[in-house]
Amino acid sequence: MTGGGLVDPLGRQITYLRLSVTDRCDLRCQYCMPERAAFMPKTGVLSVDELERIANAFIDLGVRKVRLTGGEPLVRPRVMEIVASLGQRVHEGVLEEVTLTTNGTQLVRHADALVANGVRRINVSLDTLDRTRFARIARRDALPMVLEGINAALGVGLAVRINIVALRGENEDEIPDLIAWAHGRGLDVALIETMPLGDVGFDRTDQFLPLIQVRERLERRWRLEDIKHTSGGPARYARVGETGGRIGFITPLTNNFCATCNRVRVSADGKLHLCLGQEGVIDLKPALRGGDPDALGRAIRNAIVWKPARHSFEADRLGAPALTRHMSVTGG
Ligand code: 5AD
Ligand code: SF4
Repeated sequence: MTGGGLVDPLGRQITYLRLSVTDRCDLRCQYCMPERAAFMPKTGVLSVDELERIANAFIDLGVRKVRLTGGEPLVRPRVMEIVASLGQRVHEGVLEEVTLTTNGTQLVRHADALVANGVRRINVSLDTLDRTRFARIARRDALPMVLEGINAALGVGLAVRINIVALRGENEDEIPDLIAWAHGRGLDVALIETMPLGDVGFDRTDQFLPLIQVRERLERRWRLEDIKHTSGGPARYARVGETGGRIGFITPLTNNFCATCNRVRVSADGKLHLCLGQEGVIDLKPALRGGDPDALGRAIRNAIVWKPARHSFEADRLGAPALTRHMSVTGG
């Protein structure tokens, strides 16, 4: 490593990489993508070897946590090779953590291998425990698979955080029960506000539910105490007195957390996204494929200068997508 890692012009140190291994997914969550989603052409997607090289270049520049995302990361063939190679870096003590965000549908098959390769905790997206409602939100009848997947993960000792997107008029009434269910199993939860990423064929304003309102509702049932706990990201945690469990609040629209942003994202086609809430990207492919072994590290270093100060989401402008890209490109 040269020159003390990646620090942007605002002094934010980049220690966290979210690496999307595919933009494909076996679900079609309404708020994420349209039914007939346009995916990246297969030829544009990086190989497993290239994805590993990207991750290692960031690790050499001081990144300490890598999260694999999608689309759905577990639908990518040979994804476990990437997990294994990152797990090896954890084993060496160079990387603190390798983790992933998954929709849970493939966990039954993969939970064992995740643990064997050094993963200790994962985030599973789950917006409802009602099968009909799940099928409506995700446009696929996959709730039983997801629940089995979560059980499989717990069975092999993975720590699981449940990510819940708060949706007005959809899962709003169920969020307290969903949290009670998770806490009853010893799982943390994180609540997420919908973000205007990509055209999904409807106006997200209708579904936008500020988490402050969710919290008010939760406080009618439980005692919530703000705690210092962090999972390394923008979630602000509270502990529920009655359940003993934790709730993270991720509030990109109602509360700006950009000042402490420590992360960048790389999409499966090798584009470096410096901010989830801005369009600008830097294509790492030329450096990756150019044949000069130092080019990739140099390209990343040069790019960090352009990290935006903050995202451009505005709660009162949810009607139209703020960005053309869908969440499935960067995986959150
Ligand atoms: N706004 C907020 N969260 C989203 N997710 C997908 N699309 C959106 C969106 N437009 C969530 C998924 C998952 C995480 C990766 O991002 O449910 O939990
Ligand atoms: Fe797939 Fe996640 Fe998007 Fe749902 S939110 S369609 S699970 S990538």
